[in-house]
Amino acid sequence: MSADVEAGADGGAAERSGSPSGLSRRGLFGLAAGVGAAGLALGAGAGSAAGVAVGRAREQGGASPVHDFFGAHQAGITTPVQDHLHFASFDMMARTDRADLVSLLQDWSYAAARMTQGLDVSATGAIGGSPEAPPDDTGEALGLPASGLTITFGFGPTLFETAEGDDRYGLAARRPALLERLPAFLGDDLDPARSHGDLCIQACADDPQVAVHAVRNLSRIAFGRARLRWSQLGFGKTSRTTSAQATPRNLFGFKDGTANILADDHEALAEHVWVGEGDEPAWLAGGSYLVARRIAMLIETWDRVRLSEQQRIIGRDKGEGAPLSGGREGSAPDFAAADATGAPAIDAASHVRLAHPETNGGIRILRRGYNFVDGNTELGRLDAGLFFLSYQRSPAQFVALQRSLSTDLMNEYLRHVGSGIWAIPRGAAPGSYVGAELFA
Ligand code: HEM
Repeated sequence: MSADVEAGADGGAAERSGSPSGLSRRGLFGLAAGVGAAGLALGAGAGSAAGVAVGRAREQGGASPVHDFFGAHQAGITTPVQDHLHFASFDMMARTDRADLVSLLQDWSYAAARMTQGLDVSATGAIGGSPEAPPDDTGEALGLPASGLTITFGFGPTLFETAEGDDRYGLAARRPALLERLPAFLGDDLDPARSHGDLCIQACADDPQVAVHAVRNLSRIAFGRARLRWSQLGFGKTSRTTSAQATPRNLFGFKDGTANILADDHEALAEHVWVGEGDEPAWLAGGSYLVARRIAMLIETWDRVRLSEQQRIIGRDKGEGAPLSGGREGSAPDFAAADATGAPAIDAASHVRLAHPETNGGIRILRRGYNFVDGNTELGRLDAGLFFLSYQRSPAQFVALQRSLSTDLMNEYLRHVGSGIWAIPRGAAPGSYVGAELFA
């Protein structure tokens, strides 16, 4: 355990009294009580009799998948895409220092390691602590299995250096050179209140209550150190990461994720998704870059478009998802093929053509987005769309693809209203925490 965390434990009591949630600002959950780095390993914390006794019983899950939190890569990237998303962006609070940031990442890792195993955030959890204190865990996931929960953490450009050039945490020299706010793209209509952020958390689970419980509790743990900037719920996956998963559909009604990079394609992952050992910066090796785009879809307008035109816009048929050049869903598109009139079978401005590696010098990305419907607009239309998430070895891959899509026929039905980019550190080693390499 670092001296910083020890100091946090000392300072915790004073801060605890001022905290409505009863949580200390630093050195939470066992870290403050001397569990230290070993406590970050689930075996030492949650594996204790007490942890299991008050944790949500894994057995209740039956077929519910449980994903390891610790590992070479963070879970939630190649993990089979779960059904639900709660994504959250955070800003560090004013007057926090490097020790606050480190302790926050340690506390988040500790709690995330437990929650992904179907346990409460701490050993005393929702009901095992003092009846005179607010419980550590909020409780709404009691009795629910792990539900395939993964929690993935990311670092935004402003964590390293603010727009004003403030190096709050002594990290400016360690900022990945390519980690900067995405450039403006044609047709962007970004809302700053739904964009950017110092830190991000992607929580995915097969039960929405489990994903929301994770973000709610991590947000609570952040008290005094970071605060929620914006968040997004997603209710249906729009991609797949294994061949065993059926290709889901987006809100335009088309299969989405057909040509995605899959978890068993290690060669493609090494080339297009994971930051390599020889890449800069060295601390990010085994990590990735995450781009999030809140893309509003004008579905009422889309729903008035005839089927043949919808298919021309996408470049695939709506039923099977096959390329319009023929074949089945898995067939490679043939951009040279012509239809009966001699015109290209796949329109030159179709989405699939413009996004395809052949059009983009071989560039590929791993897509992991979700559908959303957030009520309705003043005009009585659904506020609906795709919360686009993609993982790539370099932000330049997304930038090139998004520029290529500037003439996409689909753009008439889309508005990009939110945006963010984060460096995704490698997975935490057992006994350590996410991002430890950055502070080494
Ligand atoms: C609401 C917005 C979007 C919708 C509805 C959408 C929909 C689709 C659909 C239906 C496909 C064909 C099936 C598949 O291979 O997955 C597809 C493919 C693809 N999309 Fe999108 N997409 C959207 C935004 C984006 C964005 C912003 C990017 C990247 C900047 C992107 C990149 C790709 C890529 C790389 C492919 C695979 C192309 C291939 O290799 O054939 N999409 N998308």
